[in-house]
Amino acid sequence: MDLDLPDLDGKTYLLTGSTSGIGRDAARRLAQCGATVLLHGRDRERGRETLSAVREAGGDGVFVRADLADPEAVAGLARVVDERCDRLDGLVSNAALSVPERETAMGTERTLAVNHLAPYRLVHDLAPLLLESAPARVVVTTSGVHRRGEIDPETIAPGEPARSPPDEYDALAAYARSKLANLLFVYQLAARLAVVAPEVTATAYHPGFVPGTRLYRSVRGPFGLAVALAARFPGVGTSVAAGGAGLARLVASPAVAGVSGAYFAGTERALPDERVDDAALRARLWEASAELVGVDPELPLDPVAVED
Ligand SMILES: NC(=O)c1ccc[n+]([C@@H]2O[C@H](COP(=O)([O-])OP(=O)(O)OC[C@H]3O[C@@H](n4cnc5c(N)ncnc54)[C@H](OP(=O)(O)O)[C@@H]3O)[C@@H](O)[C@H]2O)c1
Repeated sequence: MDLDLPDLDGKTYLLTGSTSGIGRDAARRLAQCGATVLLHGRDRERGRETLSAVREAGGDGVFVRADLADPEAVAGLARVVDERCDRLDGLVSNAALSVPERETAMGTERTLAVNHLAPYRLVHDLAPLLLESAPARVVVTTSGVHRRGEIDPETIAPGEPARSPPDEYDALAAYARSKLANLLFVYQLAARLAVVAPEVTATAYHPGFVPGTRLYRSVRGPFGLAVALAARFPGVGTSVAAGGAGLARLVASPAVAGVSGAYFAGTERALPDERVDDAALRARLWEASAELVGVDPELPLDPVAVED
């Protein structure tokens, strides 16, 4: 893929979930162009190893460890970025997981907490720095599987999925829900930014099926076996390199400068599920997310205050 990335010397990016998979690949690509990349994940060893790769590629960075299921750790991650950086050119929420059994975090189901509430909180806390650094970009890695997601903002807390009995936890349904939440969030964020700070953009990214990452490591049964086999055959699905390149392109390529409220499958602009057009659903999820995270839904991106 011709990435067409400019010189990124002087640019700073926070890239969550960059100790592995497509996030790690994207971090290395940004570093190759001279960027400073704030690397993030849970695993210290992979963090150290990724930091070395970033430095070898010609960039600089720091590894920040934070479990995004822990609200204090998410707030702490934002604080570190705020304290260490005098600018933030891109906030990339790429970290995600799928847990095989129901677990609770941040007053909701853990997959939703890590994959959606943590990105929400990071935007809330880092919006002032992004606005000061404009033009800047928010990118959230979602998935094509969002089309299978079901979400009702009124029932996402506590212990979601609220309507299924505890013994019928469906990990794929929870993952798909979190990825639909990513898209509803990005489009709502883009609508707010269009009023408050048009030079800050928000886009969502689907890398394709990337069997070579660690995402599917806890998946058991026939699907787990199929992914393990797929990872051994180049040509099945998308390579980690292509997934990382597409992410780096959305973060820093001039080809997508100024594009906001958009969904990309690889390098192609795509239409998300039609529920993403539902402004009332987006607004209700925004409110419910703020309540779960414990922040004011209007701050720091209040379109009404700007219009007044
Ligand atoms: N692979 C695919 O087929 C596919 C398809 C569509 C979308 N995606 C999306 O692509 C993104 C990257 O996934 P990947 O496939 O590259 O998977 P991956 O190799 O498993 O990478 C996931 C990253 O997220 C971090 N992470 C996971 N849970 C975390 C937590 N609780 N707190 C902090 N960090 C956490 C991991 O860090 P540690 O391991 O250090 O904790 C790792 O750096 C995800 O948003 C995923 O949903 C992937």
